[in-house]
Order: sequence, then structure tokens, then C-alpha cells
Amino acid sequence: MKRNEIMSDIKVSIIPEPVKIILEKENFTFNEKTVIFTDLRLKKIAELLKKFLAQATGLNPEIEDLTQIEKKNNVVILGISDNEKNLNHEGYNLKVSRDGINISALTPNGIFYGVQTLRQLFPPKIEDFSQKNLELSIPCVKIEDFPRFPWRGFMLDEARHFFGKDVVKKILDLMAFLKLNIFHWHLTDDQGWRIEIKKYPLLTEIGSKRKGTYLTRRTKKLDGIPVSGFYSQEDLREIISYANERFISIIPEIDMPGHTTAALASYPELSCTGGPFDVSPSFGIHKDVFCLGKEKTYDFAQDIFDEVMKIFPSEIIHTGGDEVPKRRWKKCIDCQKLIQKEGFETEKDLQTYFTNRIADYLLAHNHRLMGWNEILDENLTKNAICHYWTHNFDKVLKHIRRGRNVVMSEMSALYLNYPYNLLPLHKTYMYDPIPIELDQKFYEHILGLEACLWTEYIPNKKGLEWHTFPRLIAVAEIGWTPKKKRNFQSFLKRLDYFLKRLDFHEINYAPKDDFEKEDIKSKNNK
Ligand code: ACM
Ligand code: ZN
Repeated sequence: MKRNEIMSDIKVSIIPEPVKIILEKENFTFNEKTVIFTDLRLKKIAELLKKFLAQATGLNPEIEDLTQIEKKNNVVILGISDNEKNLNHEGYNLKVSRDGINISALTPNGIFYGVQTLRQLFPPKIEDFSQKNLELSIPCVKIEDFPRFPWRGFMLDEARHFFGKDVVKKILDLMAFLKLNIFHWHLTDDQGWRIEIKKYPLLTEIGSKRKGTYLTRRTKKLDGIPVSGFYSQEDLREIISYANERFISIIPEIDMPGHTTAALASYPELSCTGGPFDVSPSFGIHKDVFCLGKEKTYDFAQDIFDEVMKIFPSEIIHTGGDEVPKRRWKKCIDCQKLIQKEGFETEKDLQTYFTNRIADYLLAHNHRLMGWNEILDENLTKNAICHYWTHNFDKVLKHIRRGRNVVMSEMSALYLNYPYNLLPLHKTYMYDPIPIELDQKFYEHILGLEACLWTEYIPNKKGLEWHTFPRLIAVAEIGWTPKKKRNFQSFLKRLDYFLKRLDFHEINYAPKDDFEKEDIKSKNNK
């Protein structure tokens, strides 16, 4: 391919849109003599960049120590610099001139994001790893960039359907490309337990397998498609390390005391009634939950979190807490005894008691609890992070105004499992995580946002990608780009270009005809 053909394809089209970008007239051209000079603390990032350039161009640039730099042109420089104080800890400066490329930041995170932006200065063809030996030019630019929110997340439910390591790694790659930094992993629910816990082997021996799924709840006929799978602790460590290299923290979610049928099928003695239970073949809210009147439930939870805290380096552990029916507790002798002993007024107080005990346990081990907004309560321990999804927004505002932290996953904008006719791309794009009712002094308590993919009706990778993209691309821009710079028409133009990049990675994103029309039926919903 001739150089001119490649040049004609170049535009500056970056998602998420950077804070400041100045386009200049000239170009920088990579060739066999280009050398990467790096701060040695950034060696892994330099190697990722080298690998990318090698895959895409056939070039194999040397990586050298920045302190030994001996040439001034045809260089890519990756350097940590204390001068970048105007940036936050994930920000970066990227300068492309005729002589080379300079990415500087306060932290490796910033450098990593600079490299992701650099990748988008190339034409989409660079993502075609089967092409080689392209001589590649990129436009000269000056970019100053940093994120609006520290929490830019994506949640994947692997309890309802299990996708496995390769699918998760591909998502992590795409998240990193979009500068998303939190992967929230919903690993347990009524329909499956997907994390190996060495002290309780039945959780995976029994809890990770279901015979099938009811075609309808009324007829209770199974579809005949068994669902199983779980991650060994070794698998989890491998994925955590993969995420870590991409500056993504993984927040595990072990949902309790509700959404626990798979755990109860394995250990029925943790219920109020004693069971028996099957790993659930149906969706929705289940009335059997952990018995909070029995001390062994607390021992069990603590043992699980002991192992979870050993595996996951994240300070924050998600303990669910959503959709907990109180019906069993009302009739359970043990639960009622505890309610009396503690002088609680309602069963809701029992849930708060449980949440606080788990939060205290985590805190004693230097971890913080995060839970869905149902955990909110006057007496909730103060360091708990609220994960908002639906209802009771007043309580969420109150939590924020008490100086406590929230992550926003507003269901009507950020639940990507909804079909596009109910949640079109523009509706996700127009969402803003800062509620209009909120005084500016509380903005810092909105840590950011997280898109959620619940997979009851998403059994495979094809459906997963179709629901997630392009809406997650919009979520990335909400999380990063200053509100003033967000513009849907501009986004759509840049998206066209971005989707060409995804084509080379064979991502099954929803096409324009689907994501722009509100009246179509979701095709890959089942
Ligand atoms: C949820 O959607 N139940 C958090
Ligand atoms: Zn009970």
C-alpha cells in the first residue's frame, strides 16, 4: 500500500473526546529506525506499544532507557514527569511533532491512556493485524487530557450465563482502549456460583451447575440447555493480572443475603427453612435468602470474604444486597430471636445489621464494602459505598449529602441488557451522572458511573457484544470527557470511525439501523 493512500485515510477522531486538542499541519512517520525511549518504570506499557506496532505494521522498534537517550528525532518518549501537576492522576500530555512523540504524565496510568489515544491517531487499518509493513504517518497534535470521573466501569453478570476467560479478556482489552478502569464482576446469584472457594467446595461442585432454564415460569418446563462453569482461583489471578496490566481494577461482587439460591443449593443449612434447593432455573426475585439469625451465616460470609480478599487486590468489595425479600425472616425463629435481642423494629434492620457486620469485617482487613442502593439505611455504616441502580433516589441524595460516596448505574440509561428499542444509544449518551438537584460541593461524592450487563437473556458472546457495543463506547465518553465538550452529533461521527477499528477485532456491535431506531425489536436478545 502506498503512503498516500494511508495518509488520505487519517483524521483525528478520538473516543473519549480529549479535554484539549490542537491539530497541527505536519506529520510524524514511523519507520524501521523509530526507537521507544521509556522511563524503566513504564517498561510494560512500552512493550504493549511495541507489540501493537509490531502486530500492525511489522515494525519492531527497540525499547531503550530514557535516561540514556542519545537521539533527538524519530523517537517515541514515555516519561513520568512531576511537571504535569495540572493533570490528575490518570491524565497525560501527548505531543506529536515531526521529530517524534512525547507522552508524559504523573503516573503510569496516564502514560497508558496517552498510548491509547496515540493508537487512535493512526487510521483504523492499523488494527488489522494481518497487514504488515505499512509505513505509517500520524498527524502532529498537542493533547492535554484527563478524566472527569475516577470510576468508569462496566459490570458483567456471569452468574446467569458463563462466558469464560477469553471473552472476559477481550472485554478488558476493549475497556482499556476506551479508558474504562473498573471491571465489576457479578460472580454469584440464584442461577450460578462462579468463583472457587476452597473452604466450601460445594459452592462450585453443586452451585455452578444448573440443569436448564424454565421456558416460562408458569409451565416450569426446562429448555434443556444446561449452564455451568466457574473460575478457579488460579484463573481469577490470571485475569486480575491481565486487567492490572491494562490499568483496570476488578471489583468482585458476592451477592448476599439475597440472590443466594446457588449457595443455598450447596449449603441449605444457611437458609431459614433448611431447604432443599436447586440452583435456580428461573429468573426474578427469590424468596429464600440467607438466614441472618444463625451465627454460622456470618462465619460462612467471613470465610468467603477471607478468600476473596486474598485473591482480589481491590480495596473495594461489592457485597450486593439488592432485592432481598423479608418473608422468610418474618417466620424464622432464629431471625426473630435476633431481632428481639437487638431490639430491631423491622426485618430491614436485620439486613442493615448484616451489612454493617460484613462492612466492619472488611474494614478490619483494610477493605471497603460497596452495595446496591437497597443497603441504604439511617444506620448504615458510614464508609459503605452506594451503588445506585433504581428507586429511592431521595435516599441516595441523602447519602451523598452526608458526605458518602456513590457510583451511578441508573437502570434506565446504563443497563445495557435492555434492547436498543427501549434504550437507544442516544439515551445512554445523554445521561449525566451528576443529579441536577445536587449542590456543587457534593459532586466529588459521585465517583462516576458504571454500565451493567445482566445476562439472563444473553447466553453467548455474540449477544454480549451486540448489547454492549456501541453503548459502552458512549459510557466511556460520559466518564471521561468534560460535560461541556460532550456532543452527540460529534460522537456519532467519531463512532463511525471507531467502529471501523472494532471491525478488525470482529466485535459483533449493533449496527446503526438498530442503535438509532427506537421502534425495532432487539434481534439478539435471546
Ligand atoms: C439489580 O439490578 N438487581 C442490581
Ligand atoms: Zn432465619
